[in-house]
Amino acid sequence: MKEALENLRRKADDEMHSAKTGEEFLGIKTRYLGRKGLLTDLLRGLKDVTPEEKPILGKLSNDIKKSLLEKIEKALADIEIGAKHKFLGEEKIDVTLPGRGVQYGKLHPVTRVEGEICDIFANLGFSVVEGPDVELTYYNFEALNIPEDHPARDIHDTFYVTDNVVLRTHTSPVQVRTMEEYSPPVRILSPGKVYRPDSDISHTPMFHQVEGLLVDENITFGDLKGTLSFFLRQMFGSDTKVRFRPSFFPFTEPSAEVDIQCVMCKGAGCRVCGHSGWIEILGSGMVDPEVFKTVHYDTERISGFAFGLGVERIAMLKYGISDIRLFFENDRRFLEQF
Ligand code: DAH
Repeated sequence: MKEALENLRRKADDEMHSAKTGEEFLGIKTRYLGRKGLLTDLLRGLKDVTPEEKPILGKLSNDIKKSLLEKIEKALADIEIGAKHKFLGEEKIDVTLPGRGVQYGKLHPVTRVEGEICDIFANLGFSVVEGPDVELTYYNFEALNIPEDHPARDIHDTFYVTDNVVLRTHTSPVQVRTMEEYSPPVRILSPGKVYRPDSDISHTPMFHQVEGLLVDENITFGDLKGTLSFFLRQMFGSDTKVRFRPSFFPFTEPSAEVDIQCVMCKGAGCRVCGHSGWIEILGSGMVDPEVFKTVHYDTERISGFAFGLGVERIAMLKYGISDIRLFFENDRRFLEQF
């Protein structure tokens, strides 16, 4: 048995000598030390040897097993290190190259201003609701007291999808959709895209509006003035002068256009304000009873005010941008400034 063990050790050593790859060494490991391996097999014979021989042969076989294992593990480790060195030797990194730098995304200025508007009104208890961009003419016009032959329809040059479906020309239809669904009190803000076939330095076929609506008992024009003045001073600074001018919208009565003192010339008169010292910033008014009737609100008991404003216009004034089309060219040199 002793001789068999010694033979086996020699044979294993020879094999290891000529082995080169990791697989070959792993092969040797299973062949000798595996469950059906040669050494394992030999050890089964230990039970038949004499009691005197047993400890000697036991120790010898353990030594063989141990040294075989050690040699194999060492060979495998060496192979791995060799591979790493080879890889590191071949791969070349030029540590003097400049880094690539992380590029951060930014909010589009229109998104940003829209968010600021919503935040100011959210603090006053307004909730944000949204309506569809593709809208029925009923909500875009009729329900807002703009019948088929009404001259106001001309002002709202319109993209028609079908005879009774349009790309909404303003966010006001959301007023009607909201009042159809909820009974008063209602206090909502509705930002979104609107569409009109116009394109020049101050018009793009798509732009953004924010619509506001507040309906409750005992709402007066004083509430409208107070709320909108507060909003404009939050937006443009606490010393902003605000002016209310009589106007007309089919869905409000009375109606008012709201101006702020020109942010560029502080009222002295310049090109931006057409030398008037004032800039028109939003449309507003007390909700017309005709609109309340279409949503079955009790016109005796409740009243409310509404307003609509253009987001790009506010962003242009806030950031001193003179051409609205810059917002939609997606030139990163422009967008990165905000
Ligand atoms: N919808 C109007 C527009 O697009 C803006 C507007 C004016 C909205 C008066 C209102 C309002 O809610 O009361 O020009």
